[in-house]
Parts: sequence; structure tokens; C-alpha cells
Amino acid sequence: MKSQNEILNFDHIVIGSGLAGLSSALHLGRSGRRVAVVTKRDVDECNSRLAQGGVACVMDALDTFDEHVKDTLVAGAGLCNEENVRAIVEAGPEAVQNIIDLGAQFTTRGDLGFESERDAYDLGREGGHHKRRVLHAGDITGAELERVMVEAVRKLDNITVFEYHTAIDLVMSLRRSTDNPGRCFGVYVLDNNSGKVITMLAPTTVIASGGAGKVYLYTSNPDIACGSGVAMAYRAGAKIANMEFIQFHPTILHHEKIRSFLISEALRGEGAVLKSAENRNSEPVEFMHKYHPMKSLAPRDIVARAIDSEMKRTGAECVYLDIRHIPEDKLRLRFPHIFSKCLEAGINMAKDLIPVVPAAHFICGGIKTSVNGETSIPGLYAVGECACTGLHGANRLASNSLLEAMVVPMFLGRVISKDFDELSKSAPDSSVDLSWKCGNATDSDEQVVIAHNWEEIRSFMWDYVGIYRTNKRLERARNRIELLRKEIDKYYRDYLVTTDLIELRNIATVAELIITCSLLRHESRGAHCNADYPERNPAMDCIDTVIERPL
Ligand code: SIN
Repeated sequence: MKSQNEILNFDHIVIGSGLAGLSSALHLGRSGRRVAVVTKRDVDECNSRLAQGGVACVMDALDTFDEHVKDTLVAGAGLCNEENVRAIVEAGPEAVQNIIDLGAQFTTRGDLGFESERDAYDLGREGGHHKRRVLHAGDITGAELERVMVEAVRKLDNITVFEYHTAIDLVMSLRRSTDNPGRCFGVYVLDNNSGKVITMLAPTTVIASGGAGKVYLYTSNPDIACGSGVAMAYRAGAKIANMEFIQFHPTILHHEKIRSFLISEALRGEGAVLKSAENRNSEPVEFMHKYHPMKSLAPRDIVARAIDSEMKRTGAECVYLDIRHIPEDKLRLRFPHIFSKCLEAGINMAKDLIPVVPAAHFICGGIKTSVNGETSIPGLYAVGECACTGLHGANRLASNSLLEAMVVPMFLGRVISKDFDELSKSAPDSSVDLSWKCGNATDSDEQVVIAHNWEEIRSFMWDYVGIYRTNKRLERARNRIELLRKEIDKYYRDYLVTTDLIELRNIATVAELIITCSLLRHESRGAHCNADYPERNPAMDCIDTVIERPL
């Protein structure tokens, strides 16, 4: 059935309000053109806000761009786009200066009591970095950057933020072939409160919808991280790349009641060591030397797999982080948020070991883009975690994501501004459906079906498409997702669209993309480890797994 829904016109639409989304809105909005930001919940409810570690950026005289590029390429396990890595790394200082000018306060050496270096920024270290280069605001860097961006965006009258509005699908002209992918004209959006669907139109639409951790049973991500942008772009026919590379963060707090709380890698940067216990009665001991010369500071994929192996070997529910060599007053200064959360869990970091487990954290792949955020569809752009610029390769280097979330929107603002006159010439043709087609039934069973399917997907993704994969497990996952997707698609066509249904449909699409890409990669590399293909295949260096929806 067709309904006449409200149509709103803008110059730019940005989907998502994390650091990449708001940076894009700001770079585009400074031109005075009309920008709409569409966000599912409150403007600052996003994954970026939870980032603890910081922004990887060459700031120290003893560090160099070459070294940052090299660490990124090594962590990325032969799959990074070196040219894009270099462009992003070299633009880091400019992007950082921009956000400092907007009011971001990074921790200085003076803040930590080092009077002789009072004005220098404190630079942390994380897994895979051979130098100290992580700018941070205590251990709540993401929250500080998000605060600054929200303030900056709120100051511009030409940027309208639509909170509690959920993007459903892109408004597209007909896709005829891979070479003629149609054009994006905007997005259909559900007003969460009224239940009405709005058609938002603009010459450019930027997807900045963040990650998809909720595809997995255990994750560091918040509830909103459902992979909506990747799912929408795939449905619209955009090229999607490298979805098999799911990064598992090695150290999420293991606690009965406190779920999804990250214990930053920055602790290991300050000397914290991973330990595991042989059995319940034995004292935990170091184990990372058995896995990598950088020990507890090895790249993240290696540490996550090592922890998984130790847990399987010993049968333990978790391993431990030991940072007891640092006095309590110093820990409280450097890690105030983590310290207080641990205390809430009954752990004093200065005296106790911290129990930790790995959990899904970051998608290294996503909507395939240029370094400027251009996708394979004219009028459609993607930035941040939902995009795949080639910076992360097969395994993201810690704290490179906030860097990317600030740098790529800066490049995007420049290319869109340059091309805007041309872009705004094309108007929706007759193949573009401006009206939203919706089902007209409601169903009393709906919540149960949605909750059940959601739990099922997250559980089998964890069991079959997790840290260690095998062909058999992946095939089992493929069979399950095919059945579920058909059921969800039917449900979606028949019933009125709700936020829960939109998220379930997106989760199912993203799960299917992860499984498909995993099955296509016949090797183990970076965050993708398949026991049936245990080695890295040099012939696959620099070869992305690129997929698009069949016509
Ligand atoms: C962390 O603080 O360990 C997370 C940083 C990141 O994911 O880059």
C-alpha cells in the first residue's frame, strides 16, 4: 500500500550523530547550506561517546608519519590501502587542531602532575603502536569529543538535528547494472514518536551510522550499534567490503551485572599485564610471551585470540589484567572512569586483578569508499565505522578510528563543496518512489518474534562466526541466517514498520554479509581466523572481499 508521507528537502542529509556524523554535519554546514542530521535516540547516544583510549596522531617530535603508517599497515595484516592510510595519518594533526580550536580538552602532562612538561599533551600507548601517540581526555576521550561536536553543531542554525528518528532505507533511482548503480536522493525516516514515515530528500546523503556490535551476543557496543548504514547501503546496491573482519576487543570487564564495559588498552600501554590461572586455586601468571614478541601490547587480533586460547585451554571464564604496579592516586588521575566503574564492581585496580574477556568491538569493513567518503553510488557517502576506506585493513590499529572519524569528514566536506553545484542539478526522475510503501497490519505477537529472532542471530553469530571460525560453523550460520532473513523479510512486508523491526532487519542483513564475506575468504588474516585455512595466503595481500546485492 502507498501512503502520502511528508517530504522534507535539504542540501545534505547525515545519518548518525557520532563523531563522524557530527564532524560531517559541521564541515558541510559551515557553507551555510541546509543540513539534516538523523539520529535514532538522543544526539549524543553513540558508540564514539564510549571510546576510552583516544585519537592516534603523530604529535611528538620523536614520532613520525612513517612510523604511524607502518604500525597501521602491520596491524592491518597486508590489507590496508597504503595511500589512504598515509593521507589519513598525515591529516591527523590538522583534524586534531580543528577540534582543539572548538574547545576539546585533551589531558596534558601537567594534569597528571608532571610540572616540568606542564603544557605538553600526554600521549598514551596501545596495542600495535611502537610509539606513544594516543591523545586522550582522561579515559573518556570519546565523550569529550562528542560534547564539543554537539555544542558546535547546535550553534549553526542551518543544521537541524532530528533526534528519535530512525533511517529505514535510502531513496534511490532505479539500479540497472553494476556500472549504472542508480543515484541516491535521500532517505525514508521513521519518526519514532509519531510512527509516521518522512521522505527526506537532498543532493547528498552521508551515512555515519557507526558499528554493528549488536550482531554478536557479547559486545562492547551500545544497543544502537545495529549496522543500519551498512544494511541500507547494501540494499541500495552499494559495494560492501571486508565484512569478515570483526575486531574483538581483548579486555571487556567480566562481571555478572556490569555488561559491555571496556577496560581500555591504554592500561596495557601503562604497563598492565595479562595473566591467566591454570586452575581455580593457582595464582594467575603472564602468558602473552607465548604468543607475540610485543606480549600484552601485541596487535588486538593476536591478543584476543591468545586470550580465547588460554580460556579454552584452562577452562576458565576469564583472564586477568594486572596493573597493581601503579599506585592508586596515579590510577585515579589517569583512568578516573575505569577506576570508579571497577570499584562499583568491587575491584580496586591498585590492589586487585581485573577479570576480563574478549567481545565484539569494531567492524573493520563496511561500505566501500574512497578516502573522501565517496561510495559506489552517486549522491551517497559514508564515513566512520560503517565505511571501509582501507585504513584498517584486516585489523584496526587501536585509536585509529577516532582519527578517521575526524579526518575523512574534513576531506568529504571539501569534495562535496567543490562538486555541490553539479550534484544539486540532478533531481529525482520517475523511477524514484517518493512515497513510502508500508504494510498496514499490526501484530500482537510482534515483540516476541522480534526478540526471539534477535537473540537467535546474536547467539549463533557468537558461536559460529566468532573469534575462531571453521567452514562447518560458517555454513551452519549461513543456513540459519537464510531462513531467518526470509522470515524477517516477510514480517517486514506485512506489518507496520517499528524501530525494533527496522533494527532486527538490519542486524539480519549485516549478519548475512559477515557470513558471506567470511565464507569467501579462504585464509586466516588479521581478525578473520578460519581453522580450515589456518595460514595467511600472500596471493590475497591487498585483495578486499567486495560484495554487492545481486540485481
Ligand atoms: C580502548 O580504549 O582500548 C579502545 C580503543 C579503540 O578501540 O581504538
